[in-house]
Amino acid sequence: MTPESAPTVQQLLAFYLESGVDCALTDEPVNRLSDPEIMPAAREPAQVQPVRTIPATPAAIPAARAEAAAPEAAIQSAREAARIAPSLEALRALLETFDGCALKSTATRLVFADGNPQARIMFVGEAPGREEDIEGLPFVGRSGKLLDRMIAAIGLDRSSAYIANVIPWRPPGNRTPTPQETQICLPFIQRQIELVNPDVLVTLGNPSTQTLLSTREGIMKTRGRWFDYDTGTRKIRALATFHPAYLLRSPSYKKMAWLDLRAIAQALEQAKTPSS
Ligand code: URA
Repeated sequence: MTPESAPTVQQLLAFYLESGVDCALTDEPVNRLSDPEIMPAAREPAQVQPVRTIPATPAAIPAARAEAAAPEAAIQSAREAARIAPSLEALRALLETFDGCALKSTATRLVFADGNPQARIMFVGEAPGREEDIEGLPFVGRSGKLLDRMIAAIGLDRSSAYIANVIPWRPPGNRTPTPQETQICLPFIQRQIELVNPDVLVTLGNPSTQTLLSTREGIMKTRGRWFDYDTGTRKIRALATFHPAYLLRSPSYKKMAWLDLRAIAQALEQAKTPSS
């Protein structure tokens, strides 16, 4: 048997890229198995680790590092801080200093929102991708271009629509956010929706739909259906539709997305002139 020749650096990089690894986190590789912070039991089998908690007051959040936070405590802190954010600017500032979600440490920057905070319609996707991470704005890559065309189809643009994501930091290599990351970020997007207070909320794709509209059904069943999104103080009409990235992969579903857009346009019209 002849041994296979070692891959070239170029082949290795191509392999990484294909596997979704498109950003370097550190200059040197890290052996996680030898890290006592991560693998305490391997080093000190008999030692019981003290339970570390973070204070639940919003003011204490900047100091609460992700590695010190038990997931439940991080979620709790996020919830309490988000609930009292008085404005979108305050919510953004809170996220800028919030260290309870590990995605922040691998992302380049926060991707908070784009568009008009006074808009009557709000679109929510899943999480930023590579281009969004670089620019700090949601939906600026290929799927963003299609989203722009979808918004144009109902006679609007980014100056009359508001766009955000459930998760405001790019997951490394565009991996799917974990349920825990989603739960940690959820109170922030909930508050963002409440503060924008649109007439119509549009969830783009399965993850955003399932997370925000509390359904376990898939997008094939939920798309085109109206839901009530309850902010606690008001019910907002919400419609699920396909994620533009999905439409790029499966253009045959654009027809259905078009029907959804027609329904959205009608709902906006009705909201303008409510029947007495
Ligand atoms: N996909 C998303 O869900 N959000 C973005 O901002 C970009 C791509």
